[in-house]
Amino acid sequence: MVCIRKATVDDLLQMQACNLLCLPENYQMKYYLYHILSWPQLLYVAEDYNGKIVGYVLAKMEEESSECHGHITSLAVLRTHRKLGLATKLMSAAQAAMEHVYGSEYVSLHVRKSNRAAFRLYTETLGYQIHDIEAKYYADGEDAYDMRKQLKAKSGHGHSHGHSGHGHGHHHHGGDCCSGGGRSGEAGKAGKAAATASLQTVE
Ligand SMILES: CC(C)(COP(=O)(O)OP(=O)(O)OC[C@H]1O[C@@H](n2cnc3c(N)ncnc32)[C@H](O)[C@@H]1OP(=O)(O)O)[C@@H](O)C(=O)NCCC(=O)NCCS
Repeated sequence: MVCIRKATVDDLLQMQACNLLCLPENYQMKYYLYHILSWPQLLYVAEDYNGKIVGYVLAKMEEESSECHGHITSLAVLRTHRKLGLATKLMSAAQAAMEHVYGSEYVSLHVRKSNRAAFRLYTETLGYQIHDIEAKYYADGEDAYDMRKQLKAKSGHGHSHGHSGHGHGHHHHGGDCCSGGGRSGEAGKAGKAAATASLQTVE
């Protein structure tokens, strides 16, 4: 039995461990902390009956652009627990919170062109569409699909948690999901800006 629940700070080490096992895009602990301090409703975990974290979704809001929208930073499910619908549930939980808590109009993400499993999950199961292609987005030179899914909320709806969004910018090559975290230390930079931003947030 696996349950999907909101992540807490105590889950972050296990989320990081899951990320390291599943993806080449890895982040420092401060980047996970930045997410949970800034958007605590947007991190979910899949936990098995032993309390082991077997999957997670790490997401955030992009607030500096004209349209407030959610963004999936990272998603992974351990090999032993794949094809059980867990990623679908984790994504649905994060998307619902983006829409209902933050009034997000749409959600975006990046995925490697070669990642068939994730691409099918996003397009066929979750209804994302290709918005753009970002050439050589990843550190190893692979292109990314920039994908989007429209949510129901309209602008001006509900968003009032007071996060400024300044200081972290659009770090497409730095820290997000499916981003080329190895590129010129950008992931580190994003983490640093992130730490600053989160300090602002909790003041
Ligand atoms: C991609 C990933 C998160 C999917 O997790 P999951 O829990 O197995 O996904 P789900 O069980 O919710 O699958 C939902 C749908 O996704 C698609 N899918 C999932 N795994 C697939 C695979 N190996 N091959 C093809 N399609 C697949 C299918 O359409 C599936 O629906 P179906 O079961 O009715 O066929 C998981 O494979 C993973 O962690 N991969 C490594 C990390 C990664 O790539 N993360 C995404 C980075 S953008």
